[in-house]
Amino acid sequence: MSKVTVVGAGNVGATVANVLAHKDVVNEVVLLDLKGDLAKGKALDSWQQAPIDYYSTKLTGTDKYTATKNSDIVVITAGIPRKPGMSRDDLISINAKIVVSVTKSILKYSKNPIIIVVSNPLDVMTYAAYKASKLNPKKVIGMAGILDTARYRAFLATELKVSPKDIQAVLMGGHGDTMVPLPRYTTVAGIPVTEMIEKDKLNAIVERTKKGGGELVKLMGTSAWYAPGAAAAQMVESIIRDENRIFPCAAYIKNAYGLKDMFLGVPVQLGKNGITRVLELKLNKTETKNLHKSANAVQAVIKKFNKLKLT
Ligand code: LAC
Repeated sequence: MSKVTVVGAGNVGATVANVLAHKDVVNEVVLLDLKGDLAKGKALDSWQQAPIDYYSTKLTGTDKYTATKNSDIVVITAGIPRKPGMSRDDLISINAKIVVSVTKSILKYSKNPIIIVVSNPLDVMTYAAYKASKLNPKKVIGMAGILDTARYRAFLATELKVSPKDIQAVLMGGHGDTMVPLPRYTTVAGIPVTEMIEKDKLNAIVERTKKGGGELVKLMGTSAWYAPGAAAAQMVESIIRDENRIFPCAAYIKNAYGLKDMFLGVPVQLGKNGITRVLELKLNKTETKNLHKSANAVQAVIKKFNKLKLT
């Protein structure tokens, strides 16, 4: 029996629940939102899709934490999204309180869950959930890298006129404009991408990727949900099926890449106990410099979070 709770029935949370239900890998998905009947409505709508799309995942919506009892995994999407002109870091004062309070409430009903954080500013909210939960850091993971890498891969697929399925890539660092896509670790069906594309075109795609979230905020007036929701659902699947797939995720770095004791996007393996391994790549000087710049940007926001004294 496996049970997953998704907190927040906004666009992202509802998409996580819906995509996860389609995968048919968990018995039950509980969608929780404190806002009236929103979660109940979206869960019921998703459940009514089951006979059409053929899945058995039971979906329930609720506004009460009691319904989340004994969840194996909890995905936290609660918080406000960006509006045009805002950076993810602008969300900290509101979202930090929400994420800390959600984490504490969840822990009252589920003793030792794995927590996947989706709320922004992502790396810092993952740190916040870790601090508030006091869980083993292997069990607190942030969703960002799968999304950012997916954007990078999608842009490359369009440019190269290939299937996005054939593009593999690594991207590291924080979920912000300092993120570090890594062309040296990007292939098209095993062929180094650098052999397939001119340098300036690749650079332009790297730059577009870094601002990929902002591009969508400008287009829609709020932040994205289809790719973010699918990315979180993919993390859940790897954990539930103990697949040990390798994904870039915001993870606790004890001591790697010259960084210590912080959460940042790195390649990890996800299995039944959460993070089974943090992979340490041999980055070159420029890559390391860019990663450290991104780590510093995240650390600055962690400082702001710590000043709020919420945990
Ligand atoms: C984005 C938001 C979810 O990158 O951070 O679209």
